[in-house]
Amino acid sequence: MPIERVDARSDEAFMEWFGVLQRSELQRDGGRGGGWQPDEWRARALDEDAPNVKHLFSLREEGVVVAVAGLEISRDDNLHSLHGDLFVEPTLTGRGFGSTLLTFVEEYGRSLGRTELLFFVIEGADEIGSAPNRFFAPRRGYELTDEMARRDLPWPQPSAALDALVEQWSEPAASYELHRWIRSTPEPLAAALADLMSRMGVEANHADVLVEEELWSVERLRTHEQTVYDMGRDLLVVAATHRDTGELAGYTELTVSRDDPSTAYQWDTLVARSHRGHRLGGLMKAVNLQEFARAGYDTWRITTFNSTRNQPMIDVNEALGATLAGSMAMWRKDLTAL
Ligand SMILES: CC(C)(COP(=O)(O)OP(=O)(O)OC[C@H]1O[C@@H](n2cnc3c(N)ncnc32)[C@H](O)[C@@H]1OP(=O)(O)O)[C@@H](O)C(=O)NCCC(=O)NCCS
Repeated sequence: MPIERVDARSDEAFMEWFGVLQRSELQRDGGRGGGWQPDEWRARALDEDAPNVKHLFSLREEGVVVAVAGLEISRDDNLHSLHGDLFVEPTLTGRGFGSTLLTFVEEYGRSLGRTELLFFVIEGADEIGSAPNRFFAPRRGYELTDEMARRDLPWPQPSAALDALVEQWSEPAASYELHRWIRSTPEPLAAALADLMSRMGVEANHADVLVEEELWSVERLRTHEQTVYDMGRDLLVVAATHRDTGELAGYTELTVSRDDPSTAYQWDTLVARSHRGHRLGGLMKAVNLQEFARAGYDTWRITTFNSTRNQPMIDVNEALGATLAGSMAMWRKDLTAL
């Protein structure tokens, strides 16, 4: 069965690849849209020199693409590791296509000298803990290293409730000043934000896997902002600085597709360890939601993922009104094991 690397510059090859991913997502979410948009994948597959580039692969059977995969390849850090995605055409599961393509991408990862492959697999609300990945991944040598809960916040929210939370959380956070922007980080905060982003992987409360600091520079931050924009997304950020020292204490990111704003996503939220305990996480998120409301996107839900071990962030999301809507399983395989 031929497996090919997909040239994301070709409309036809890319859309054939994306179609399988999209139909798999639609099936998972009971036919409701709001998943990945084509440009979001494409933008990240086009720039070979980016700090993270996606290589896309298709498996064909009798000329038709039946399974697709993506590998995210880091350039500067976490060089032991790779992030993968794998989707089989929903009507064609159980025929070995998933296994064949998985074996191929594992070998591809080994050929790049990587020793670990990670998959983050999203599950719909009706299949938490019982989606195909739960059977498939362990039989292919993967171990479950963490589980994230997905919560959805119905949108819009009554502004009075949001205002009350901001007021409540502002008091313990009185020694911090908040900054907010869309798309482009103000220059005076850029270096400190890049530094904090470097620590996101190691300081966030999540999985028990080896994560090295990512190497974020102002240049990489600007590339990230541009990539998100090229993905067709707006990025709303709120950050907090400590009034006495001027230190950047934390940030939170919310993103929404300009083409299909129906579902917005909460991305990273981090409060540096030395600044925890002042309700900053909740406050920054609530203020970002106020900004989001003001911007007036045609959104009906905001989705967020938290490690099931990250109780402080779960408490914040529930206080904001988000409820359980699915999960994400994080699988890991040691590529050096026989
Ligand atoms: C998981 C997925 C990739 C499997 O693809 P597939 O082509 O059906 O996989 P294969 O036919 O190669 O292998 C299926 C294996 O998983 C098992 N399996 C898959 N779905 C199962 C289910 N619902 N119940 C029980 N076993 C299941 C099969 O028994 C088989 O194991 P075996 O060969 O040892 O008997 C596919 O269902 C999919 O695209 N799911 C959505 C995205 C996803 O979960 N990606 C997984 C990333 S790890």
